[in-house]
Amino acid sequence: MSSSSPPPRPDDDDGAQEVGASDGRSLGYGEAEYWDARYVEEGGAPYDWYQRYDALRPFVRCFAPPASRILMVGCGSALMSEDMVTDGYVEIVNIDISSVVIEMMRKKYFDVPQLQYLRMDVRDMSMFPDESFDCAIDKGTLDSLMCGVDAPLSAAQMILEVDRLLKPGGTFILITYGDPSVRMPHLNQSACDWKVVLYILRTYQTLV
Ligand SMILES: C[S@@+](CC[C@H](N)C(=O)[O-])C[C@H]1O[C@@H](n2cnc3c(N)ncnc32)[C@H](O)[C@@H]1O
Repeated sequence: MSSSSPPPRPDDDDGAQEVGASDGRSLGYGEAEYWDARYVEEGGAPYDWYQRYDALRPFVRCFAPPASRILMVGCGSALMSEDMVTDGYVEIVNIDISSVVIEMMRKKYFDVPQLQYLRMDVRDMSMFPDESFDCAIDKGTLDSLMCGVDAPLSAAQMILEVDRLLKPGGTFILITYGDPSVRMPHLNQSACDWKVVLYILRTYQTLV
């Protein structure tokens, strides 16, 4: 577990963390430019939001065996995928809307064949055919979308895309700070015939 403090978390209201764009507009968690600027500022330093893999491992291993083909949505600069490869996972396709972080991660992991990095919007992953993955993992990306404009529409688009990409019997692991009462309606869309299992974890601060 990292000893640094976690960054402010995306929230369910419109109180997104904001930085200034070059044209004077405010940017927030829901916008690609915000993330590009943030990843430039961080200079390639790795950061895992909410939890590191070691804390999540029991859940991930339970729902996705190492032979699974995994889709990591909104991978950021997290060490999660690297840690999963160290733990035996053989194929993790990482996507993120930030071209800055995707370029950084490609360079960092050019010699790790188990990891692939693609710049893509989670709301439109049409590059992948239906039923491409055994498991999709999101740690903090739906939370970010919930801070953007048209949040309910973005969330619906993301969930439908994840549903389309999962093989029959596949699993979506959503790691979120959102209250279940706010997140469940997104998961319970009528188009998705999902069985939802909820685990409430202790907070980051209590684990360090
Ligand atoms: C809170 S960070 C989480 C990063 C990483 N999953 C982690 O656990 O540390 C949210 C990530 O989602 C990405 N993101 C935001 N909107 C996105 C979108 N529409 N499509 C794909 N990625 C997006 C951001 O660039 C950022 O890397």
